Amino acid sequence: MEAKHDVLVIGAGCAGMRAAIEAHDAGADVALLSKIHPVRSHSGAAEGGINAALGNASDDSPEEHAFDTVKGSDYLGDQDAIQILCDEAPDDVYQLENWGAVFSRTEDGRIAQRPFGAAGEPRTAYAADITGHVLVHVLYEQVMKRDIPTYEEYFAWRLVMNDDRCQGVIAWDLLHGGLKSIGAKTVILATGGAGRLYVGTTNAYACTGDGMAMALRVGVALKDMEMMQFHPTTLAPTGVLITEGCRGEGAYLLNSENDRFLKRYAPNAMELASRDVISRAEQTEIDEGRGVEGNVLLDLRHLGADRILERLHGTRELSMTFAGVDPIYEPIPVRPGAHYHMGGVDADVWGQTSVTGLYAAGECACVSVHGANRLGGNALMETITFGKRAGRHAADWALSHTTVEVPRSTETDAARDLKQLLERTEGERPWSIRDELATTMHENFGVFRREEQMQEQGEIVARLRERYERVVVDDKGDVFNSDLTQALELGFLLELADCMVVSGIARKESRGAHARPDDFPSRDDEHYMKHTIVRVEDDRPQLEWRDVTMTKWQPQERKY
Ligand code: FUM
Repeated sequence: MEAKHDVLVIGAGCAGMRAAIEAHDAGADVALLSKIHPVRSHSGAAEGGINAALGNASDDSPEEHAFDTVKGSDYLGDQDAIQILCDEAPDDVYQLENWGAVFSRTEDGRIAQRPFGAAGEPRTAYAADITGHVLVHVLYEQVMKRDIPTYEEYFAWRLVMNDDRCQGVIAWDLLHGGLKSIGAKTVILATGGAGRLYVGTTNAYACTGDGMAMALRVGVALKDMEMMQFHPTTLAPTGVLITEGCRGEGAYLLNSENDRFLKRYAPNAMELASRDVISRAEQTEIDEGRGVEGNVLLDLRHLGADRILERLHGTRELSMTFAGVDPIYEPIPVRPGAHYHMGGVDADVWGQTSVTGLYAAGECACVSVHGANRLGGNALMETITFGKRAGRHAADWALSHTTVEVPRSTETDAARDLKQLLERTEGERPWSIRDELATTMHENFGVFRREEQMQEQGEIVARLRERYERVVVDDKGDVFNSDLTQALELGFLLELADCMVVSGIARKESRGAHARPDDFPSRDDEHYMKHTIVRVEDDRPQLEWRDVTMTKWQPQERKY
């Protein structure tokens, strides 16, 4: 064992850094470990804002925030967890402000809040359209201020199980090469999502579901894995995010007939309906021939240059750079793209998983506050509130327990398996499997899901997993061997895809992001107001169901 700590946080985006800060402040010896530099974490790509009922632009309340979130989740979110998120959100945002987050301001100097989709009030606090970027930098300053050590450019590969609890991780040192084992009394997974399962995604290359797959491999269940959110406004063909903040500021969505088509799908909320509703509307327009080269158009022109430059400066730059379109003068071509996994590691409201000592927070976790459809702005809030809670609980647990041991056999097994992969000289290159996985997931498990296609995708994933057994890594070197890490990431992705398809086929209804227009077009609360829970046994996903926690909000028809 190279080193040991009370708490080891894997992943250094907003959830990971917030967890590490809290654990440190609770008195624990904490370290971060990340395959990329913390300020390059994908949290930095969150643009539009963070939701908290500050009431700066209206008479908002945590109660109203909670109701919007429950309804937005299509009644699959656990209401006790949602209430915690919404109650703790305002103080957590002021804490960020006190640490120096430069939020945009109202005329009288308070934190400005913009309208976002499916929110009853303007509730999304923002820093122009670079909110995640600002938060990542503020949190990193706090990490540095506390001298929290960071294993930077370490690729976490295997969790260490000993004495029936998680006691650390085996990681590949990207800069120098070689496996390193780092012991910890508690480990917090904060590795983000798995959007790279899809060819069109807002997610960074790093978003390969590492934490979810590592947890699955040590027997932890994944929850609601079929629930992959498609964001309505992503740039073709890159998938770069064009923030919901545009619509919050008043942008329109148009089809090829110059028609604000949302009047036929969400007549009250229009462009500020929930993401699942808008993505389906756009896909329908495109599928029925009213798209523009596979896109619809996001029109900001009426907002005027001043407002675009002040509040949506980053959006303008992204669309000019990646689509050659200046939104001051032309509409931006956009389409739905994979954005956020509502599902993830089954965790409670303190981030605890079923394995003692193992926690999860942020997108890699499913607590579950988003259910079948997340509201824009609730992801950053979740990273902060539940990162904080996981950090506190993990520190308390670690400080009341003493031993850490990484068994020698765990290290030698890992070294043997890696050597076997690196010594293979013939086989298939990882990228061809990865490309096929991402293309077929997009086709067969996208905005709309059809039984035949999901079955086919199950078979495709099974074949890809067989091919993966013979995958070959060409680069045998030690320094920045991305060939090796991409092969390991592919193993993670394939296992997650399997869980998603099994869960999707079993959910015979339409709820939130899981839309089955042909065979089960409606929500079926009687049979499916339940979480899917998947574990792997004998290398195959095994599915169970768990009731949703309801407190006071009875399911209603969901209209916007
Ligand atoms: O559109 C956006 O700015 C994304 C925000 C979010 O996913 O919360």
